[in-house]
Amino acid sequence: MQDLRSLIDPDITRAQTLPGEFYTDPRYFALQRETVFARSWHWLADTSAVKTPGDVSPHRLVEGILEEPLLLTRDDADQVHCLSNVCTHRGNLVSEHSGNLRQLMCRYHGRKWRLDGTFSSMPEFAEAQDFPSERDHLARVPFGQWGPFLFAALDPTCTLETWLAPVQERMGWLPLQAFRYSADHSRDYLVRANWALYCDNYLEGFHIPFVHPALSQALDYKQYRTELFDYCNLQVGVAKGSELAFDLPAHHPDAGQRIGGYYFWLFPNLMLNFYPWGLSINIVKPLAADYTRVSFLTYIWREELMDKGAGAGLDRVEREDEEVVECVQKGVRSRIYSRGRYSPAREQCVHHFHRLLTRFMNT
Ligand code: FES
Ligand SMILES: [Fe+2]
Repeated sequence: MQDLRSLIDPDITRAQTLPGEFYTDPRYFALQRETVFARSWHWLADTSAVKTPGDVSPHRLVEGILEEPLLLTRDDADQVHCLSNVCTHRGNLVSEHSGNLRQLMCRYHGRKWRLDGTFSSMPEFAEAQDFPSERDHLARVPFGQWGPFLFAALDPTCTLETWLAPVQERMGWLPLQAFRYSADHSRDYLVRANWALYCDNYLEGFHIPFVHPALSQALDYKQYRTELFDYCNLQVGVAKGSELAFDLPAHHPDAGQRIGGYYFWLFPNLMLNFYPWGLSINIVKPLAADYTRVSFLTYIWREELMDKGAGAGLDRVEREDEEVVECVQKGVRSRIYSRGRYSPAREQCVHHFHRLLTRFMNT
């Protein structure tokens, strides 16, 4: 495997894109598991997963590539905890189902913990020396909250606050606690392509006039712009003509502009798409080098605005994206194609992603 440090030139006007094998070779996929996904923050759930004291809710961080078993709990003091869901005895899963419990118990040999993960009891261990020890608690995993959303990480390279700061700065004015999850408007898509190809496509508006004729009617392509931050980037979609736009507060950095959509991508695999009606969260879950699940989670704020502007018809836009991304997956397998170039005008976010990806993979 080649040295990745100098693979992507920091100067976009000179840089070449990622080589095709990045999207096809299972060795890169395995490397990304440890260097990218185990080192970054991930969306986990919203607070309704553990609404009242005693609630427990098992999760996998990140489905497909990491599969780390985690357990969210809310204890009697109303504190939320994010714990390892693996029994500290011989590794059974502690909890396989959501529920409301007074304590946690492993059904294999009866080890028990309090809801904050501290060890409470274990049968047949009276003669065990140095027992219990710190290692018998359920491990606490780095996690945090933004609005109603819970995020977790295994060994993150930055704080959650740093990761989310640009989103908070631009979108913190929204009443996120009033956003409601809608199962009817949420669904998963299975894509026969590498997860990073799906991200590449998301990260440029360049293809909108070519691939999304309907969305093209809602956005002003000439005014479409991007901003880069440390671990995330933003695409700002300006509404075309009289298409629906945000009613931004007076102190907002974009006050006075007609913004139809804010598209945040957070390294490596999270997309937060804000529209006047609410938020569409896309989580890109790598299942294999050439197979990806994309979960669309819909949180509605103002339902009456759902069919208007850039935030309308998201299922159609996704299918259009999926179709072209699957075509690209077939192309990057080619023995003839190796790599391309970036449009300095339109592909800054793709370049940013590739620089972050190769930087992480090289550590
Ligand atoms: S594996 Fe959990 S008590 Fe034995
Ligand atoms: Fe697209």
